[in-house]
Amino acid sequence: MMKTKWNASLSDHKHDFVSKFGESLVEVLAPQENEKILDVGCGTGDLAHEIAARGAIVLGTDFSQDMILAAQQKYPEIEFKTQDAAALDFTDQYDAVFSNAALHWMKQQDTVIHNIYNALKSGGRFVAEMGGQGNIASIVGALQQSMFALNFPYIEDYFPWYFPSVEEYQTRLENAGFTVERIYLFERPTPLQGEDGLRNWLKMFSHNILQHLSAVEKEQVYAKCEELLKPTYYRGDEWIADYCRLRFVAYKDGVK
Ligand code: BEZ
Repeated sequence: MMKTKWNASLSDHKHDFVSKFGESLVEVLAPQENEKILDVGCGTGDLAHEIAARGAIVLGTDFSQDMILAAQQKYPEIEFKTQDAAALDFTDQYDAVFSNAALHWMKQQDTVIHNIYNALKSGGRFVAEMGGQGNIASIVGALQQSMFALNFPYIEDYFPWYFPSVEEYQTRLENAGFTVERIYLFERPTPLQGEDGLRNWLKMFSHNILQHLSAVEKEQVYAKCEELLKPTYYRGDEWIADYCRLRFVAYKDGVK
């Protein structure tokens, strides 16, 4: 798996939209008192905290140790563990597995889905949201165009995300044994606050794509992306990112 460096404090302060927009996914999960719930890719733990507040017993896992340390500091009463989702080894233990804005970072999709299936009790549910087909297409396009214009190589292998279609992901879930109750793709234009909103987003998330560039070259790319996207995606006080979400509910051993 490609190593992605996260900055937990930037994530918390400038990008808390990731968990804010995820809140309604907790409603979809509908956690019950004393249910055992695994939050895969829990980040700094805000949604794990919300799930635990409903009386569920939560374990939050994340690939990033920085994220887990931040989560543990914020919510010492919840159990968190640094863990690669491709190496989860629970068997028949969880009533539900939850994941928000994390699966699209994972390269070994079938292994992750298989591990989640194994972690669930019979009848358990997998409730998740991730970037789907078309997610941030304008930002990715602007990065490519900017690098082309500046004569910097765009290296496909450095693209760190996986944004599947409904059909593609449903097939993966079914191949692992899940019964898919619902799966859908929807647009969710996402504000990036302030004049520097796009630049902050790029600083946080384009690390992999721009890894071969110097700090000065990266600044040139950020400026070019701003120039290209400003006419369509800047609204005077905030930028709008073209997020597309894939959301699904799937069951182990049939829908209850
Ligand atoms: C997302 O949540 O869709 C996302 C966040 C950061 C980078 C790429 C995608």
